This record gives sequence, structure tokens and C-alpha cells, in this order.
Amino acid sequence: MFRGKDIGIDLGTATILVYVRGKGVVLNEPSVVAIDRNTNKVLAIGEEARRMIGRTPGNIVAIRPLREGVIADFDITEKMLKHFIGKVCGSSPLLKPRVTICVPSGITTVEKRAVEDAARNAGAKDVYLIEEPVAAALGAGIDISQPTGCMVLDIGGGTTDVAVMSLGGIVVSDSVRVGGDKFDEAIVRYVKRKFNILIGERTAEEIKIGVGTVHPDSRDESMDVRGRDLVAGLPMTVTVTSRDCLEAFSEPTNSIIALVRAVLEKCPPELSSDIVDKGIIMTGGGSMLDGLDKLLSEITKVPCNLADDPVSCVAIGTGKAVDSLELLRGAVEQSSRRERRF
Ligand SMILES: Nc1ncnc2c1ncn2[C@@H]1O[C@H](COP(=O)(O)OP(=O)(O)OP(=O)(O)O)[C@@H](O)[C@H]1O
Ligand SMILES: [Mg+2]
Repeated sequence: MFRGKDIGIDLGTATILVYVRGKGVVLNEPSVVAIDRNTNKVLAIGEEARRMIGRTPGNIVAIRPLREGVIADFDITEKMLKHFIGKVCGSSPLLKPRVTICVPSGITTVEKRAVEDAARNAGAKDVYLIEEPVAAALGAGIDISQPTGCMVLDIGGGTTDVAVMSLGGIVVSDSVRVGGDKFDEAIVRYVKRKFNILIGERTAEEIKIGVGTVHPDSRDESMDVRGRDLVAGLPMTVTVTSRDCLEAFSEPTNSIIALVRAVLEKCPPELSSDIVDKGIIMTGGGSMLDGLDKLLSEITKVPCNLADDPVSCVAIGTGKAVDSLELLRGAVEQSSRRERRF
């Protein structure tokens, strides 16, 4: 009889959420770790570390150990997982939790293995992997076990996943390593070009959420932001508008549109007609970008709707998978065993 906890983790590029069986989502923190470069010691993890981004003295760095949806720094990811698993489950070696972690659908076997190993080294007893779009659909309350097609678009910080599912499995899917981060970077570049001012990643994100839009007929606002004048080297304030964002965002927006189009084109006709009826469900923090649902609906001619709680969808779905672990177990375990042979 298994006595430890069953937990589900949405190990995101931007956010990490932990679901505990019977309790729901108990932790929601940024996936950021602050370390001292000289001693390699971890100074802060999560929210506390996020506040340090771009504000650290030379010897301290605030790192995001996941980039573009996959592990970029293995050791730090492991430390971060250990910290959060410990926070939720305690660190008793006798009561190691069973951990279900979701991974983007397009990642390689090696990248999957890295996630599994990191979780195991961080104190998990058993590790199960679930594909992010499946978790997103479950979290959005879609019954994917039915023989009708549904389509989920999950836009995170690092990746965008699109999948068409039916009868509990993925029929077609694809992903691009473009997510909310690319929109932030686009703002940094745009502001640099237009105003000759350098702004930080966090300011760029504030602009994106505060006034950003991808639809010409949507919001029209402006925001004053401070940055460093590249010529004089002094702090300066400039006004960034929704129009500026619209222009800056065209590249990442087009990548997302192209991805959705490609998956719709690959979709079997019967399922396509289900999707036209039911629409595309949008999840992930990036899907909350102003005007994106409207723009995608107009371009694809398929209604696009935001899920109820886009940021928590994947974690809630991973949680649902945890709740029915006994059912899923066969499939998930088998797939990891098959991979282990290589
Ligand atoms: N209201 C909002 N409008 C636009 N973007 C938003 C909003 N809220 C959050 N975001 C963006 O959502 C992204 C984070 O989304 P989410 O937490 O789903 O990512 P993640 O799951 O950590 O990443 P991934 O799935 O790629 O690993 C960030 O880029 C953030 O700036
Ligand atoms: Mg995600």
C-alpha cells in the first residue's frame, strides 16, 4: 500500500504549480532560482528569487533553469524541484511522493529523461510523465475519452503546444518554442530600436500585460516605463502604447498562427468538423494576451475560447491524472520503460 503523497507538477518555464491529491493546487511560484556565483549556493527560490531578476549584484544571479519549455540547467532544476517537493511533502525519506509531471508534447526522449531524472533525484519515488496538451484539456474540463475531436492551444512562457485529441489520446500535435517570453523579448528590442532605451525583461512583461495587444481593434492604452538611455547612459522615462506592442508582437504572433494553421491542416476531416463546432480551447498564461483569441478566431474561422483559469489548467489537469493514477499507470509506465531501453 502506497503511503506517501501523490502530487502533480506543472514544471513550467515561467511558473511551477504543484497539485496534491485531495487538496488541489497548493503551490504556485515563479520558476526562478537565485544563486551566489562564487560559492554556488542557492540563496532564494521562487517568488523571492523572482524579485531579484535584473537587480542582483555581480556575484548573485537569478536564473530561470527552464528555457523554451525544457530543462536548460539540470542541477538548478533539481534543486528547485527538491525545494518545492520538500515544501509540499516534507523531506522524510520514508514518505517519498509519487510525482506526475507534465512535459511539452514536442520534446525529445533525452529531454524527457532529464525531467524524470531531475524529479527522481529531487526525492520522487515514482515519476510519471503526461503530455502538456492532454493535461491542459483535462484541466479545462474536456472529456477527452469521447470519440469526438477537441483542440487545445496552450501558450506558456517558453512553448506553445497545439493538439487535437480524441478517445483519450493525441491525434495530431505540434509545438513551437515561442511563448510569452518571446513577446517580452520583442518589446525589449522594439523599445531599444524606437527610443534608444534599454528596458529589463520584467518591465517588458509589465508592458505586455498592462497595455499589450495583438489585435488592431482591441485595447488602445499607454504606459510610462523607465529604462536606461543607450546614448547618455542615464535613466529615462518613455511612453509605450498598445500600437507599439501590436507592431512589436507581429513575429511571435505569426509563429503561433502558423502553428495553429498547420495542425488544423493535418487534422482528419471528421475531427475538423468537431473542432469547428466546439472551438479551440486556449490555456496557459500567454493565451491571456489581449486580442489573441479574437485574432485567431478571425484568421482560422474557428471559434477560440479561453479556458476558465488558463494559468492553472495544466496543473489542474495533471492533478486529475494523479487522481486517476491507477487508471493511467499502465500506459504511462509502459511508455517510460520502453524509452529506458535506448
Ligand atoms: N494577463 C496576461 N497577459 C498576457 N500574458 C500573460 C498574462 N499573464 C501571464 N502571462 C504570460 O504567460 C506566460 C506564463 O504562462 P504559464 O505560466 O502558462 O507558462 P509556463 O507553463 O510556465 O511555461 P511553459 O508551459 O512554456 O513551460 C508568461 O510569459 C507571462 O508573461
Ligand atoms: Mg505550461
